[in-house]
Amino acid sequence: MRIGLIGGSGLYDIEGINVLDEISLTTPYGIPSASYKVGEIEEREIVFLPRHGISHNIPPHKVNYRANIWGFKNLGVERIISVNAVGGINRLLQPGDILIPNQIIDFTFGRRISTFYENDRVLHVDFTDPFCSELSHNILKASENVGIKVVKGGTYICVDGPRLETAKEIEFFSSIGCDVVGMTVMPEAVLARELEICYSSICVVTNPAAGISTKKLTSKEVLIMMKSSLYKIKSLIKGIVKLIPYDRHCQCKDALKDADL
Ligand code: HPA
Repeated sequence: MRIGLIGGSGLYDIEGINVLDEISLTTPYGIPSASYKVGEIEEREIVFLPRHGISHNIPPHKVNYRANIWGFKNLGVERIISVNAVGGINRLLQPGDILIPNQIIDFTFGRRISTFYENDRVLHVDFTDPFCSELSHNILKASENVGIKVVKGGTYICVDGPRLETAKEIEFFSSIGCDVVGMTVMPEAVLARELEICYSSICVVTNPAAGISTKKLTSKEVLIMMKSSLYKIKSLIKGIVKLIPYDRHCQCKDALKDADL
C-alpha cells in the first residue's frame, strides 16, 4: 500500500527522501503534471507528484487533475496527502499557520472536469465529508507527536483563479463560514473519492486573504511563506507516515458502493 503526496506551490521535490524510482505515465485522461517519484520515508513507500509541475509552469485552472489522480491509482496509491497553499480568511489565522480542513465549498463552478464518470456510468459519490477522517486524524495526531501546531478543522473554499479574490468576495466567503481560500483542493478531493482513494489536505496559510490585510497581495509572499514552512511540513509528513495503519478503516475505500444509479 503506497502513500501519495501532492506537492503544492513551493514543494516541487522531496529532497531528503530516498528516491527509488521515477515513473512517467500517460493516462486515459492525458499526461499528469510531472513524473511520479517513488521513494521511502520511515520504511513506507511514498509516491510524490508536484501538482504545478517541477518548474511551476502549470497554473491551478490548467492542472490535469484527472490524469494526476488516475496516475496515483494506477501506481497502487490508497491514500493521498495533499499540500495546499491558502489565503487566510478567518482572522485568527496568520501566515505560516497550518490548518487541516474538514469541509469544502466548491466555487470553481464546474469549469474543471470533476468526475471520472461522465459517459455510460451514472454515479453519485457521497461527499458529505470530503476529507478522509482516518487520514486527517493521523495528521492531527502526528502534529502532536512532532510538536507542530496545527488548526484542527475548517472550511476550504476553492476558487478557479488564477486571479486572487476581491475584498468583497472574501467578505462574502467569510460570511458563509469559510476559513481559508485556495485554488487546488477541487476537483482533486472528489476525484480521489471516486477512485476510492483517501484524501486529506495540509493547508499552509501563505497570506491574509484579500482585504483582510491592507497590503497588496503578491505571489512572491505566497512562495516565500510556503518555502519557510517546508521544514514543518516535512517533519509533519514523517510523523504522519509513521502513524498510518496498513489497512484502511474509513469509508473512502467503499466510496463506490451504492453510488451507482
Ligand atoms: N487566494 C486564493 N488562493 C491562494 C491564496 C489566496 O489568497 N493564497 C494562496 N493560494
